[in-house]
Amino acid sequence: QQDPRIARISSAIRVIPDFPKPGIMFQDITTLLLDTKAFKDTIDLFVERYRDKNISVVAGVEARGFIFGPPIALAIGAKFVPMRKPNKLPGKVISEEYSLEYGTDIMEMHVGAVEAGERALVIDDLIATGGTLCAAVKLLERVGVHVVECACVIELLGLKGRERLGDRPLFVLVNST
Ligand code: PRP
Repeated sequence: QQDPRIARISSAIRVIPDFPKPGIMFQDITTLLLDTKAFKDTIDLFVERYRDKNISVVAGVEARGFIFGPPIALAIGAKFVPMRKPNKLPGKVISEEYSLEYGTDIMEMHVGAVEAGERALVIDDLIATGGTLCAAVKLLERVGVHVVECACVIELLGLKGRERLGDRPLFVLVNST
């Protein structure tokens, strides 16, 4: 039995064909942010799931993890840690390279933002191949943080992103093909 809030969230996400390039069906969450009820329901669903899980870190992946992460962090009493594209963070960082459809990218996290033994939630808007979330998880695990779960608003099925995460649990609100 699906939560009745999911249908409204799903329909508030706009799909834009051929963006940013031909053949890509872009899942645009900016329209979800315009629907005050659907946006609140999105945050509430995550908060309800994570409030009693003893999570001290919400790690949000640039860029759209920065939209969903902070309200969840505030509501569950956790800190928010941004996982950024390279050369954006001013302090000492650790970096993780990961593969994209064409080429590679790098994700960075501030050293000292988290401590070994902390429990983290990793959040982003969408999982496709899983490369991005996997890099975020690895950064946290390298410094001894336990990733309780990864969470996304949307899972693009068929790209095996979930498999790439291995044993780490993934929670999503909406599936898309
Ligand atoms: C999108 C999305 C995820 C990532 C998922 O970000 O917001 O972060 O791709 O893809 P993956 O599962 O195949 O790794 P995008 O690359 O558009 O970057 P942006 O958020 O900075 O625009």
